[in-house]
Amino acid sequence: MRAMRISSDHPLLLRIVDDLADRGWSQQDIFLPESLTGELALECRKRAAEGELAPAAVGRGPAQEVREGIRGDHIQWLEPGQAEPCDRYMELMDSLRQALNRGLFLGLEDFESHFALYPPGAFYRKHVDRFRDDDKRMVSAVIYLNDDWLPEHGGQLRMFLKDGAQYDVQPNGGSLVVFLSGDMPHEVLPATRDRLSLTGWFRRRGSEPFEL
Ligand code: OGA
Ligand code: MN
Repeated sequence: MRAMRISSDHPLLLRIVDDLADRGWSQQDIFLPESLTGELALECRKRAAEGELAPAAVGRGPAQEVREGIRGDHIQWLEPGQAEPCDRYMELMDSLRQALNRGLFLGLEDFESHFALYPPGAFYRKHVDRFRDDDKRMVSAVIYLNDDWLPEHGGQLRMFLKDGAQYDVQPNGGSLVVFLSGDMPHEVLPATRDRLSLTGWFRRRGSEPFEL
């Protein structure tokens, strides 16, 4: 297996940490190596073709339900050891986790992530990633897996910044956007073609005395 672990003081990771500290979000146009982006896109397509992606739900626990008027993507959660490119992605994200802990003292202990495929016309209405009754999600990280994306394809991630401005991210293959999960409202605009991504959250341990 080609190792994907990079040092947690790699300049790229330090830039992300600095951006988060300064303004709560970061965008890196070139994050994943092109070959890995291609392999992950293939893996996502394969899983979709095999019917492994399921309509994403909104909410948590018993209140969870599929509501296409809020969110129309299809997802599959990643598990370690299923596919080599996914393991390499998870290793990279672990390097980022260490960089975030070192630079921002966030105490991030784990990372959860899923493939997401938005079919044409699907969207995700404005939301924040932290649940009302569970504040473990600290940092959101989205990596896009789309070749040759053009602005007219739509599918932008629209972020609502603190100063009232909006900022649109194009879902270009290999690029990364990271933001603080608790205070960055955002939405996914509908696209004219399939829109593929890997979305993940760095989490800290809960405030409960024991995790059962
Ligand atoms: C999410 C989300 C953003 C994107 O899955 O919570 O907001 O650009 N994704 O895919
Ligand atoms: Mn989100």
